[in-house]
Amino acid sequence: MKATLNGQMVELTPVDDQTPLLWILRDSLNMRGTKFGCGAGLCGACTVHVDGTAIRSCITPVAAVEGASITTIEGLADRQREVFNKVWIEHQVAQCGYCQPGQIMSAASLITETPDPSDEEIDAAMSGNICRCGTYPRIRQAIKAAAAELRKGEKA
Ligand code: FES
Ligand code: FES
Repeated sequence: MKATLNGQMVELTPVDDQTPLLWILRDSLNMRGTKFGCGAGLCGACTVHVDGTAIRSCITPVAAVEGASITTIEGLADRQREVFNKVWIEHQVAQCGYCQPGQIMSAASLITETPDPSDEEIDAAMSGNICRCGTYPRIRQAIKAAAAELRKGEKA
């Protein structure tokens, strides 16, 4: 079973077709930026992109991504990675940090689809990403800043 992971073809070798993608990413492919939180699709810590759409890898059977293009936090496009790093630091978003890879993957998907998101659009897109440290106001500010930077880049 093959898929593309962060631009490279990889072999997915599950014990079982129903093995959650999260475990293949972390344990077989060493992509540890993707986190385990609830294991039930409720917290967003495990968010990755499959064919450009943000999904919960803890409840996605590996068989469902055969032939797909998977992007983890390690494989964000260079410009997005640079901008998210910058604004997350500038806004001092992270507290414990555990939820942040999932937050950033959801935010990246939102900004790709909606380059200038309103507060309501941010809240709707991010509602499935839980932060036990309550960093939500800073996440929202950072998303707005990232969107503005990325729009600038597009115009340049
Ligand atoms: S670990 Fe996947 S949604 Fe919580
Ligand atoms: S920063 Fe701690 S869970 Fe979000």
